[in-house]
Amino acid sequence: MKTAVIFYSLDGNCTFVAEEIKNRLNADMIQLRTKDEKKRGKIGKLFWGCIMVFSGKKPPLKPYSFDSSIYELLIIGAPVWADSPAPPVKTFISETGISGKKIALFVCHGGGKGGSQEKFKALLAGNEIIAEADFHEPVKKNKDEVKRQIEDWVKSFN
Ligand SMILES: Cc1cc2nc3c(=O)[nH]c(=O)nc-3n(C[C@H](O)[C@H](O)[C@H](O)COP(=O)(O)O)c2cc1C
Repeated sequence: MKTAVIFYSLDGNCTFVAEEIKNRLNADMIQLRTKDEKKRGKIGKLFWGCIMVFSGKKPPLKPYSFDSSIYELLIIGAPVWADSPAPPVKTFISETGISGKKIALFVCHGGGKGGSQEKFKALLAGNEIIAEADFHEPVKKNKDEVKRQIEDWVKSFN
């Protein structure tokens, strides 16, 4: 099954999960980056991210290469920002207009995923959601435990 892992990550947690999935499924990896990417402190990141969520803004992305027609499975990952999937992933979903695809989605969060997965699925209406998962700060956690969680999740796709 030709697979792509598409994700955004500000602090490395979704990158860690995406790389683990990629290695297990031999998937293509597409990392989304915002055009206005720059170093921000902890408060700066929270402010920048939450303003985007509350204003409904979809930040422009740096160019990426993606052709949905070549993939049978898309795995899409986002950090949770203010109970929502981070807006850069919303930009991707809206500008690619993916529909009719098999999709597995994951979120990384700081302990409060809230309604983020429901919102994520609503953004992907018109696709078949075959699996979903959430990871609590995987970079800070016991890596072996997280790797096992990813392994089990990936096996559930078949
Ligand atoms: C702008 C912003 C808003 C956040 N909002 C939430 C939240 O609502 N709930 C939560 O559990 N964590 C929240 N977090 C923490 C991140 O979801 C968490 O650190 C996640 O693992 C980050 O993924 P990343 O390292 O791939 O960027 C927020 C972080 C940022 C920067």
